[in-house]
Amino acid sequence: MKRLFLIGFMGSGKTTIGNLLAKNLEYSFIDLDVYIESRMRKKITDIFAESGEDEFREIEHKMLLEVSSLENVVVSTGGGTPCFYDNMEIMNETGLSLYLKLSNESLSQRLNKARAFRPLIKDKSDSELIDFIKETLTKREIYYTRASLIVNNDGNDPNIVCKEIISQLKKPAQT
Ligand code: S3P
Repeated sequence: MKRLFLIGFMGSGKTTIGNLLAKNLEYSFIDLDVYIESRMRKKITDIFAESGEDEFREIEHKMLLEVSSLENVVVSTGGGTPCFYDNMEIMNETGLSLYLKLSNESLSQRLNKARAFRPLIKDKSDSELIDFIKETLTKREIYYTRASLIVNNDGNDPNIVCKEIISQLKKPAQT
């Protein structure tokens, strides 16, 4: 395995778990949002505000293609990445995809505190945020569940989740 792609909703812990996994596997860690911001020299919030979501998704797709050619990397993707273009196929063809799964309740608790830099939720009230998570997660799970591995990250210690993932990665592939 040369590349591991972490996918899942905003606030599901992709960056924290991705960093731990990269250290453990001795891989480089790439956060796709950070990669986009440094390549475009613009904040994600500014890309959304100035050019809109469609333009952001096109940039995100191009940047995913770029990182899919790098070797020995753990890539933490944006919450919407798997749901646009053929991004899920790209990840499954060039590496191993892993869905970090959380309940609606855990996601709303986590996102309540961390919405300022997330353009899709920054202006939502608490009840709007809960509705958004329910509706969007239902639509996105169709894509997320196409991952090679699905790991629950509800309220768990990131180090324990990381160990669990490493042991799953070491298991021989099922035939
Ligand atoms: C998005 C998630 C964000 C970022 C952008 C859009 C989404 O990444 O890519 O704001 O569509 O869910 P995180 O999942 O890292 O917050």
